[in-house]
Amino acid sequence: MGNLPRLGILASGNGSNMAAIADRIEGGDLAAEIALVIYNNPDAYVKKRCIDRGIPHILLDHRQFLSRALLDTKIADTFQENNIDLIVMAGWMRIVTKVLIDRFSRKILNIHPSLLPSFPGHKAIEQALEYGVKITGCTVHIVTLEVDRGPILAQKAVPILPTDDRQTLQARIQVAEHEIYPPTIGAYLREMGKGTTP
Ligand code: GRF
Repeated sequence: MGNLPRLGILASGNGSNMAAIADRIEGGDLAAEIALVIYNNPDAYVKKRCIDRGIPHILLDHRQFLSRALLDTKIADTFQENNIDLIVMAGWMRIVTKVLIDRFSRKILNIHPSLLPSFPGHKAIEQALEYGVKITGCTVHIVTLEVDRGPILAQKAVPILPTDDRQTLQARIQVAEHEIYPPTIGAYLREMGKGTTP
């Protein structure tokens, strides 16, 4: 197992995408290892998911850092000490700075709950509902300095039903996220020369 690509996950809240990735790894569909989860909110549910699954995790509370750059320096140091091959943002609610992007250039992925370039930034689901689009979805992309503007790796469309509110739409988008994120990570690892076919 020592040669598996090592994922470093950044999560702020629920951690359902982290769990979906862990499930695919356990099921043998994704040849990788979640080597470390960094989370920033002490009460984040992702912490419990990590404990239950025996996944190494550490709290880096952004409130303890004087600037975004100092937090990102600590994140980069921590991931480098842990020989992380690819950073996977899974509900990371902090804006990433040049510090982290330069140290893990093209090695940070994110999932966003809209069909980018539509509805970047916060409240993507609310924006889609408010605009009245009939189709939204989710996007996996490489993280660059411009928020939610990096090269797109995968997308899945989700229709908006007349009866949808934020919760029902979010629930269906999350199902789509859990479907596309793990295989896209696997494909990207192979592109990086880090992956093996499971
Ligand atoms: C996801 O919907 C993702 O699109 C967004 O944050 C949410 C995280 O959900 N970036 P979870 O913590 O993985 O359940």
